[in-house]
Amino acid sequence: MTAALPFNPPSPDAPGKPSVRTWIPPAATQEKHNFAELHSIDLSLLDSPDPKVQQALVEKVKEAIRDDGFIFLENYGISLEQLHRQFSLAQYLYDNITEEDKQRLLFDPDTGMWSGYKHPYGFKRQRGPADGIEQFNWYPREWNNYNYIPECILPFMDEIKAFCEYLTTSVNRRLLTLFSRVLELEDDYLWKHVQSHGTPTGEGYFRHALFRPVQKTTEAASKGLRMHGHTDFGTTTQLFSVPISCLQIWGRDEAWHYVPYKPGALVINIGETLEIVSGGHFKATRHRVYKPPADQAHEERLSLVLFNSSVGDLRMAPVASSPLIQREGCIEEQGVYKEFRRLMDAGVPVPTNKQWREIQIAEATDPTDTVRNRIGADQVVLGGKLMQQREYFGVKVLLPV
Ligand SMILES: [Fe+2]
Repeated sequence: MTAALPFNPPSPDAPGKPSVRTWIPPAATQEKHNFAELHSIDLSLLDSPDPKVQQALVEKVKEAIRDDGFIFLENYGISLEQLHRQFSLAQYLYDNITEEDKQRLLFDPDTGMWSGYKHPYGFKRQRGPADGIEQFNWYPREWNNYNYIPECILPFMDEIKAFCEYLTTSVNRRLLTLFSRVLELEDDYLWKHVQSHGTPTGEGYFRHALFRPVQKTTEAASKGLRMHGHTDFGTTTQLFSVPISCLQIWGRDEAWHYVPYKPGALVINIGETLEIVSGGHFKATRHRVYKPPADQAHEERLSLVLFNSSVGDLRMAPVASSPLIQREGCIEEQGVYKEFRRLMDAGVPVPTNKQWREIQIAEATDPTDTVRNRIGADQVVLGGKLMQQREYFGVKVLLPV
């Protein structure tokens, strides 16, 4: 494998580009209680000339994805300054997007995609109670036709596109190489056979998200929750570690823990596709977005996320040719793989990746929805824990609240 080149983006100072206010990261929380400890992976070690170093890296990845399903990635090729430029662009988008563009590009989750602009009134096109979350999502539609992009951000599309291309074709490809090696498959197996291609984010999407502090009424209705506990549906999700601590993961101790801030690091979370492909050896990470610790209650949280997607037409099953799976079998202790297995054993076809991701988006509910979020509706108590229970295509999805 040839060594990865560092990110070399188009210039921020090219003629015709408006000046952009520099994003200043807010202060990290002083709170130390209830934070997870995550494994950290140095991606540059994949370029080591020493096979022993590479093998040790694969072993470390194997342990990390079995333990948490969440890992910090460091030395992946993008500098802190380059990363902060992308945050400045996201800040610029929310400073400058016009009301007309918000209307024109308004999302329509009933289509099964978040494509476009999400208003801060819940996860349906029709406005519900304020949730303080704005997003812009770049799907294939946005990459392929810049009429679907907010006008204010058009001068910077060269930088945003280059950033996403680097994250997918360099960072995610290398990551999938590591995961393929864990499954003892050829280096490009997951990249070639599972990962979708064709746009800077394949069939997946890139997101600029802005979480504003919410009113007391919203916080009371949602019990402090900003996004429900869930697992992502694709291959991997690349999130940038941010100073405002809202992201939480469900630990082995069956409790929620904040993900700590590590400047410049990428937080990688394993999606459902990889859990199924690996026969449960990889765990799709259960995570949610919750209110931050008290000292950050009044801060805005800006977040950049790239959702890598699997090929939409595929129906996922464990890779039978993986020597790891042949030797150790599959692991059915929890999660989406166990539920897909139930269908396969009953001879019922599992949904395609496209069907699976689109139904979950179309059927998403809001944390402020006090009708659905109660026992007897979408919630059940199991083993003393409050869980969210949904079913799509005969597949049960059970997640901690
Ligand atoms: Fe997620």
